Amino acid sequence: MAGRPTSPLGDEIVARIHRLAAISEAADNLTRIFLTGEHRAAADLIMNWMVEAGMSARLDAIGNVCGRYEGEHPGLPCLMLGSHYDTVRDAGKWDGPLGLITAISCVAELNRRGRRLPFAIEVIGFADEEGVRFASTLLGSRAVAGTFDERVLSTRDAAGISMREALVQFGLDPDHIGAAARVRDELLGYVEVHIEQGPVLEARNLAVGVVSAIAGATRLAARLTGMAGHAGTVPMALRRDALAGAAECISLIEQLCREDDGGLVGTVGYIQAAPGATNVIPGQAHFTIDMRAPTDERRNRSVAEMVRRIEAVAKRRNLELQLDVTHENRTVPCAPWLKTQLAEAVAAEGYSAFELPSGAGHDGMAMVDVTDVAMLFVRCRGGISHHPAEHVEASDADAGARVLLRLIENFRARQP
Ligand code: GLV
Ligand code: MN
Ligand code: MN
Repeated sequence: MAGRPTSPLGDEIVARIHRLAAISEAADNLTRIFLTGEHRAAADLIMNWMVEAGMSARLDAIGNVCGRYEGEHPGLPCLMLGSHYDTVRDAGKWDGPLGLITAISCVAELNRRGRRLPFAIEVIGFADEEGVRFASTLLGSRAVAGTFDERVLSTRDAAGISMREALVQFGLDPDHIGAAARVRDELLGYVEVHIEQGPVLEARNLAVGVVSAIAGATRLAARLTGMAGHAGTVPMALRRDALAGAAECISLIEQLCREDDGGLVGTVGYIQAAPGATNVIPGQAHFTIDMRAPTDERRNRSVAEMVRRIEAVAKRRNLELQLDVTHENRTVPCAPWLKTQLAEAVAAEGYSAFELPSGAGHDGMAMVDVTDVAMLFVRCRGGISHHPAEHVEASDADAGARVLLRLIENFRARQP
């Protein structure tokens, strides 16, 4: 196309994004869930790309794909790069795969040039960041960081299969997840490229941005129990309708977040009611809550206020309430020394080194327990994410790859 900038790495990345996106449980949308046949097929494809790029490749004890490109000598500590390759349901193609594929393309470029560095590079594709199948999230990166909570092995998916059973069916040994953990001395840092998933870079006409911090999140599961009954005979005042109670809770969560002027966001993304018939008053309702804020203090305060309001609704409606925290992550600042090197690479590629926070969660939130983390955001069209319309221009994917490659080539380990 006339006038279109050439994007050699970007074009390769885009082609691979589409190839990986073809691995989905559904023909008409992209859904790739932890410990499924699609997880296996995607892992095989990614490992092939890693080997082609000059890396050794393996699957670790939780199902992460791990590639290693040795430095000037075998066995040197590594700079770790990567992202996740699981998706939400009816997902976009870029959330996760962009960072993983970009990292592989950078290593492939070094390999083509015959370049070895005074450190190794490892590229990791995390098996579960989205937490779609089991209530818990960041499973792949927590295993690598050595913070995997073995109690989640007994959680069950919607079909009643426990994580322990799913790991065995996949061919992994749930009793050896500890083998995926890395030690601090092996890692020089973790750097992830990711689509912004928001509109800020686009509004500022910037292809890339350096992430300042990853906002914390709290997720809860709420279960309201009332009394099922006949839709025609029970007067309104005598009902214990669990779904109507849930609806009131959902509205109050939205209101609480709208009242807040400090960036508090809350989402009820899943709801189920039972017994589920037109002419039966719902006796049970189950829904999830996801709350995030730019600071932990604000999030914790808001979660406590939300719990108080939900308890009041349950009491007034005479419903039993069970509220469990299923996931909690503090806000993770990116390491200043790594941010500085990323900003230098951004500037050297001719972009302005703009910093922005991440409202979305990322594997760095877990990796920070074992090494310093930094992230580079790439602009996405309309800020749309967790949606099939998610889109990145090849020239922006190229910009992200060039910045990452420059970071790698000029990387200086943190001075003790
Ligand atoms: C991950 O995509 C999250 O922020 O929920
Ligand atoms: Mn996501
Ligand atoms: Mn992601």
